[in-house]
Amino acid sequence: MLIRVLVIDDDEAVRGVLESFLIDEGYEVEAQPDGVAGLEAYMSGAFDIVLLDLAMPRMGGIEVLEKIKSHDPGACVIIVTAHGTIRSAVEAMRLGAYDYITKPFRIEDVAVTLKRASEFKSLSRENIELKRQLRKRFSFKMLIGDSPAMYNVFELIEKVSQSDTTVLITGESGTGKEVVAKTIHFNSHRSQKPFIPVNCGAIPHELLESELFGHEKGAFTGAVSTRIGRFELASGGTLFLDEIAEMSPQLQVKILRVLQEREFERVGGVKTIKADVRVIAATNKALEAAIEDRSFREDLYYRLNVINIRIPPLRERADDIPLLMNHFNPIMCAKKKRGNLIFSKEAMNVLMAYNWPGNVRELENLVERLSVLKEDDLVTPEDLPQRFFSGEPPVTPPVVETERGIFLNELLEDFERNLILKALRKTNGIKSKASAYLNINRTTLIEKLKRLKLDDHLMSKY
Ligand SMILES: Nc1ncnc2c1ncn2[C@@H]1O[C@H](COP(=O)(O)OP(=O)(O)OP(=O)(O)O)[C@@H](O)[C@H]1O
Ligand SMILES: [Mg+2]
Repeated sequence: MLIRVLVIDDDEAVRGVLESFLIDEGYEVEAQPDGVAGLEAYMSGAFDIVLLDLAMPRMGGIEVLEKIKSHDPGACVIIVTAHGTIRSAVEAMRLGAYDYITKPFRIEDVAVTLKRASEFKSLSRENIELKRQLRKRFSFKMLIGDSPAMYNVFELIEKVSQSDTTVLITGESGTGKEVVAKTIHFNSHRSQKPFIPVNCGAIPHELLESELFGHEKGAFTGAVSTRIGRFELASGGTLFLDEIAEMSPQLQVKILRVLQEREFERVGGVKTIKADVRVIAATNKALEAAIEDRSFREDLYYRLNVINIRIPPLRERADDIPLLMNHFNPIMCAKKKRGNLIFSKEAMNVLMAYNWPGNVRELENLVERLSVLKEDDLVTPEDLPQRFFSGEPPVTPPVVETERGIFLNELLEDFERNLILKALRKTNGIKSKASAYLNINRTTLIEKLKRLKLDDHLMSKY
């Protein structure tokens, strides 16, 4: 595999040495003399490894590193830095640099570090490739997603589909638990047999048992005829126990028995019935907490949780937002017999920044709502409901009028202070990130912090 290396260093001699050495070693190399040119080169070429100097004119190495990482979190950046600046190298590592080399360097050290980095890079390339192939090989038609967080879900689905293991699917409301359960079923050897869902939260406690296991004629008042339950209906297939946390403790014992012994009786019946059923359970509650307060049996939890698939909330996989919008857009618009919606860049930015408490279901509903309400096709931020904008209150300070008028300098300082605090909150107090967010230099930010007396002890409170 050919590894492409980008060298960014303002020292011509260093560039020359690295370039000729790397070419000799069989790497493909490009060298750039400063941060701006380096970043540009990175964005336009598919580089595997970056050798990055820290102190450079135009744009410093830390800033280049941050930009590369925010564009491509998997990027492999090796810092090459003068001996006196180890502290910056450490900061760079914290920002996700792969390793660092100090100048003056011995070329053998560079060789070793690069070799390790290229091995790391080819492994992760293979890994991503494998996961992509898995996506193609496997039928995930119903399950849209092309984000690293979802690759893990896909991988687990593939693993468990080949077996009969019980699976517990967890995730916030609307994340797609039922879709995942169906995907497992339809990719398993049981796919020709029924997929039977039971919503344990929607059926009254007293009816759930007979719903699951069926009943014999005369088992209770109203049981006028024998009826088979969902376990029998699902025979050979998959039973999906949704909202499992809502099941009563009495019934939990019975489910535990079916899972252990693979048999059950109908309510009021004596005949033992074999259960050839794969069970998949789902919940949006933390079962650990339910065990703690004794509303959920620990032994059942371990039985169900043989494999746990946690579906990440939508806000943890923002890459999937445009993908899902594009998925639902034509479906909803075709239903309404109208042209597809077009989302303006500004509207898409708002959607990407939103925290989606209702996850994919909320997104699906939004697209449906827009497909009904919008007369023209172009969706702009004005078309989005209020909740998309109520993340943080505006930071404008109140303008206090005194007898002597208003104090412009103080007010501007307050305003500035609020914006800086907002930036620090957003970036967990990491100054380099906060300054990037504010589009000012890091040193300018530090000066401002001093001038506004936002020293470190005050900042701990933000
Ligand atoms: N990855 C996905 N790709 C396509 N559609 C999805 C995806 N995830 C969820 N959906 C859609 O979003 C809606 C909600 O999904 P689902 O019912 O599976 O969520 P859930 O986790 O079971 O929610 P709840 O906890 O509220 O029951 C469904 O219409 C489903 O088709
Ligand atoms: Mg559900």
